[in-house]
Formats: sequence, structure tokens, C-alpha cells
Amino acid sequence: MPPHPSHAILFEPVRIGPVTARNRFYQVPHCNGMGYRDPSALAEMRGVKAEGGWAVVCTEQVELHYSSDITPFIELRLWDDRDIPALAKMAEKIHQHGALAGIELAYNGMNGPNLYSREVPMGPAPLPVATFTYDPVQARRMDKTDIANLRKWHLAAVKRAKRAGFDLIYVYAAHALGFLHHFLSRRYNDRTDEYGGSLENRIRLMREIVEETKDAVGDTCAVPLRISVDELLGEGGLYREEVEDMIGLMADLPDLWDVTLAGWENDSRTSRFAEEGAQEPFILGIKRLTTKPVVGVGRYTSVDRMASLVRKGVLDLIGAARPSIADPFLPRKLEEGRLDDIRECIGCNICVSGDFTQSPLRCTQNPTMGEEWRRGWHPERIRPKTSEKKVLVIGAGPAGLEAAHALGKRGYDVALAEAGKELGGRVAREAKLPGLAAWIRVRDYRALQLNQLPNVETYLASRLSAEEVLEFGFPRVVLATGALWRRDAVGHAHTMPIPIAPDAVVLTPDDVMDGRLPPLKRVLVWDDEHYYMGGVVAEALAAKGCAVVYATPASEASTWTRNTMEQHFIQKRLLEAGVKIESFKTLTAIAPGHATLACVFTGREEMLAVDAVVLVTARLPTGTLHADLLALEGSFADAGIEQVTAIGDALAPATIAHAVYAGRRYAEELDEPAPAEDVMPFRREIAELLD
Ligand SMILES: Cc1cc2nc3c(=O)[nH]c(=O)nc-3n(C[C@H](O)[C@H](O)[C@H](O)COP(=O)(O)O)c2cc1C
Ligand code: SF4
Repeated sequence: MPPHPSHAILFEPVRIGPVTARNRFYQVPHCNGMGYRDPSALAEMRGVKAEGGWAVVCTEQVELHYSSDITPFIELRLWDDRDIPALAKMAEKIHQHGALAGIELAYNGMNGPNLYSREVPMGPAPLPVATFTYDPVQARRMDKTDIANLRKWHLAAVKRAKRAGFDLIYVYAAHALGFLHHFLSRRYNDRTDEYGGSLENRIRLMREIVEETKDAVGDTCAVPLRISVDELLGEGGLYREEVEDMIGLMADLPDLWDVTLAGWENDSRTSRFAEEGAQEPFILGIKRLTTKPVVGVGRYTSVDRMASLVRKGVLDLIGAARPSIADPFLPRKLEEGRLDDIRECIGCNICVSGDFTQSPLRCTQNPTMGEEWRRGWHPERIRPKTSEKKVLVIGAGPAGLEAAHALGKRGYDVALAEAGKELGGRVAREAKLPGLAAWIRVRDYRALQLNQLPNVETYLASRLSAEEVLEFGFPRVVLATGALWRRDAVGHAHTMPIPIAPDAVVLTPDDVMDGRLPPLKRVLVWDDEHYYMGGVVAEALAAKGCAVVYATPASEASTWTRNTMEQHFIQKRLLEAGVKIESFKTLTAIAPGHATLACVFTGREEMLAVDAVVLVTARLPTGTLHADLLALEGSFADAGIEQVTAIGDALAPATIAHAVYAGRRYAEELDEPAPAEDVMPFRREIAELLD
């Protein structure tokens, strides 16, 4: 099917300087936790995006010189000629599928503590390096020689990037993550020379770098300029009017303007804190400042919205990081009119956590992300089945849905039995919590896919006993029955239950999600899980009018969400909702009408008068089906059962991304011969040893 006529505009080619993008779908730079450590895995991942129809596929920020590294983050490097082959491999993979390859050269300067190179960081001013971790390192002020050197290094990297085969070579001045942004912004640039002060002076280095880049490669490569239109800090940071003037001063110099918000946490906000298209007001009107094409971002997955942005003259190219991670084939599916097949990003930022934890990018919606080279998985293709053995999947949460869907695509006959009245398991329940509505896409994508698979039968309201599983008589049984929150306070802090009086009111997130709440005025939410649930529950109870105390043994609310760049927004939202946050507090006992909290350092205890305590600690696999089945193991052969496998939360509770991944992995590996004992199930690259 061709694209709907009203979407055809998205498939028009766009000229960017000396190169032409085949359509308007543009994968903007995004890191991935693979970088220099996993170059082949990274190259394959970008190649799959090109195959999926993106016209431009970019790298992440690429360190351009050893004197500024961004350790511990793992990005690509282009420090010398020896880095060219890894980058060339990526450009080649992108070209194989007809896309343009873009590279974002970066010199972090004042936001890289240089933990690897041990060089002294430098920037426009002598300030502490601006990192997420408050590194005790200061940058030195750059003098004229430093500026001249940096221009030379940038140029050398530009030439290497061209040799590596890139078609677009970025000048990166966005996100407060690099020297150019630091020179632009008055909050980092207090210089009194020709590189500080007036707007003309602060853009001088950016102009020089763009000019030098264009002079060097502009005949064959496009030179985009990525700049942040607002730091959301008022006039204390870069703000829209000032940036408009900057763009006006350089209007047609770059071949493309790539505009975003800064910092990165504002640019890549989760769906809990920003809707699709939230950056539109900041992008509006940029196009009238230049005749060059403009690309912008906003977690776009709605095709009508994308087409309208182009029609209204807001953007020429639709930039996407997360939508391209969740669905590398988004453009192809739109072009073929296959809207139901799109795996829409849910805006959870698990992808971002890969960068923060220095681990290969993973995605809640797309379990193949990061596994394209390591395990040979593909977001759209999966090996056909190699046996006729039927599979019974029990539980239609994220793991069960993904397993049934991927097994169905392999051609297996699958029965999917769900105890509840709807599909989705934890996703269906959690999506009803404040700010998590977009997460229902995990279910919706898979439900639509199951509708297209006649070999998958779905049974709702079908809680199976062990005997009924045996009656089914399917050779393979998958237990994806999920998990429930614990009521005994066992979690990170307490590995044994704490004293809880039998008549104390103790609740869990399951009670909150199921609406099983007695009348409550004063509630303690004790968060010893540290991801989103504790904060969301506190928010939900505050919205119901409860006086909420949120206590955590950590230093801040929902501390793991630093990895999804949400922590700051969560703490702000809780404080604004009137939630009292008690940091460094462990819950030691619960009695009717009060809870006991202890300082994690001194052990000093205090009593808190509350009507109820909500324990957000750990989970345990739901029910007894697994144990009941194992008790009947002796009857398996007679019933024709060969294998019973627990996956996802039913095996070991973790994130939704882990559950989806577990479902996919089961389906990918079914009927595969087990690897030899000393063979790893995935590939990795080993650094070359030098003398
Ligand atoms: C995992 C991840 C890594 C990112 N890394 C970079 C980067 O290296 N350089 C950059 O300029 N922007 C980076 N970004 C920001 C994106 O380019 C983009 O501007 C932002 O995510 C908003 O677009 P989206 O809503 O389509 O994701 C990253 C975003 C994500 C999600
Ligand atoms: S991990 Fe979440 S935010 Fe990132 S691309 Fe996947 S669904 Fe979107």
C-alpha cells in the first residue's frame, strides 16, 4: 500500500547542501552505550535503521580529540587515523541501504573531566567541569593558542570523518554539552576578548568552525549545525530570542539547522513530563530565519502530526532519536501505509539509561535494539519455526505478549492464556498511574500484531490450574505470569521482613493500582525500589488528597531515574504536590497508626503518625502455578509436555524492558540447539593487544 496522500509530503527528497536525503525522516545523533567498545554492534544497529528507511542516520557525539574525553560515558572516538575503520564500517552499513551517514563531532571541553586521558579540561572560563556527577575537577581558561589548536583538531577530525565516508559532518553546539555551547552561553563565557561579551563575539568560534568545516569538505559533505534554542533557564541561560539573533547572524552559513532544547534532560524528556511535540513552540518560526532546511525533534510518532509540521512550514525534516530506536522501520512502515505495525516509543528513556550505565542501548518497545550484531536479532525478521510443537504461553503481560507475538511470527501455533479480562498485565495496570499513559503502547502494538496472526489463539479470563495446563497437552509451556509487590518490606535495605503489627494498614502498589484503598488521610510511602513506582504512587495518593510522606534510604526520590534523566523532574513534581520527602530513612517497624523510621547513618529512630504505609520494595512471582506444575512433573511425559519455562517477572522481576526482552529471547531461542558449554550466546569484540 502506498502512503496516504496526505502523508506523501514526508517522502519527498530534501537537498542538504551538496547531498540529498531521500525523504524527510532524519535520525538525529544519539548515543547508545556501545561506542568505541562495541563498534561492530553499533555499525549494525545503524545499518538496520538505514534499512528501515531513514534518509539520514547519524552517529552519537564522537570525541574528536584525546584532550577531551567524556569517560565514563562510552561514545565513538575519532582521535586519530586508527579510529577511521570503525567509523567507516558504520558509514558503509548505512550506505548499503541507501541512507546518508551523518557524524556529530564533539569536544566536550568543560563538561568532560578527562578521567581517561588525564589532560586538563579547558573551556571559555575557569569553572568546575559541568558533569552529572559533580566531578572535583576544574577546567582551565582557553587562551588564543588553545583556541587555534582546537580549531586545528576539529578540522583534522572533519577530514578524517570525510575519509571514513560520512556525508554530513556536524558542528555540534547544543545541549550545553561541548565547547561551542559553552562559548555561546553567558553563563559559561565571561571572556573579555573577541570570543566573549557581545553576541557576535560569542558566536565567533562557532562561525569559524563552520566556515573551516565547509571550506574543507563542503564540496561533497553537508555541514549541519546543531544548536539549542532554549536552555529553559530564562535570561540566565541561552533563551529563544537570543538564539534567534544568533541564527539570524549565521542564517545561511550551515547547510542545515538542527534545533533542540537544552540540556539533554529537557530535550529527551520522558512521556511522564512531556507530550509528543512538546518542543514545537520552541522550533516554531526558526525556518523564517534561514533559507536552509531545518530539522527538529519531539518524540514524533504520529504521522499526521509529522506531515502537518512540514506542510505548515515548521520543519523540513522530522528528527527522531527515540522513535527510531523503538521502531527502526518507522519510515518504511509509513511509506507502505502499515500504520498498525508501528512500534511507537513509550517515552520511558530506558534507552538513555544505557548511556548512563555504560551498557549497550536497550529499548522497552524494541527488544532487538543492541542485539542486531551480538545475537543476530532483527526488529522485523525472525527465523521461521523449526518444529511443529505447539506453545502454551500463560500470562499476557509484556513478556507473554512479546513471546506469543514473536513465536507467532516464527510460525508456531500458540495459545495465549490470560487470567485477567484484558491484555497487558502490569503494563495495562501501570499505564493508569499518573503520567504513564503512553506505556500502554507496549500492549497495543503487540495486541495489533496478534490480530494479524491466525496461528495465535488468545484466551482472556482464563486462569489455568496446573491440571488444566496438563490437559492442554502442549509440548512447550511458558510461564509469564508476572509478579506482585511484597508486603513484608523486604527489598534493598532489608533482606528479612521487618516487624509489622497484624492490625497495621499496609498497602502495596498493587493495592493502589487496583483501587483497593481504605479511607486515608496520612500515608507513608516507603520507597526501597528506587525506580519510578514509589514516586508515582506518592503522586497518585497526593492527587487523592492524602498528606503523603515519601521516605527513602537513598539521598533523593526515585534515585535510579537519574539514569532516565527524570529524577529532577520527579522530585520537583512531588515537592510541588506537597509531598514531604524524607531522605536517608529506613523503615524499621509498622504499627497501627504509626511507622518507625531510622536514619541510615546513625540509626536514630523517630515515629511517624500515619494511617497506612505503602511499601514499594520488591516483588515476588505471582501465584503458585510454577510450583504446582513442578509437583506434577512426573505426569509431564504422559501429558506430552517437554518443557516448562518461566520468563520475565515470573522468573525474576525487573523492568518492563527486561520482560519484553525475556519474551523475545524465549521466542528467538526456541528449538535452537543449545550452544556448546564454552560458547557464549552473544558476540563481543576484544581490544587488539599491542606491545
Ligand atoms: C539515548 C539517547 C542518546 C542521545 N545522545 C545524543 C548525542 O550523542 N548527541 C546529541 O546531539 N543528542 C543526543 N540525544 C538527543 C537526541 O538527539 C534528540 O534530540 C532527543 O532525544 C529528542 O528527540 P526524540 O524525542 O526524537 O528522542 C540523545 C537522545 C537519546 C534518547
Ligand atoms: S527505551 Fe523507551 S523511550 Fe527509549 S526508545 Fe524505547 S520506548 Fe522509547
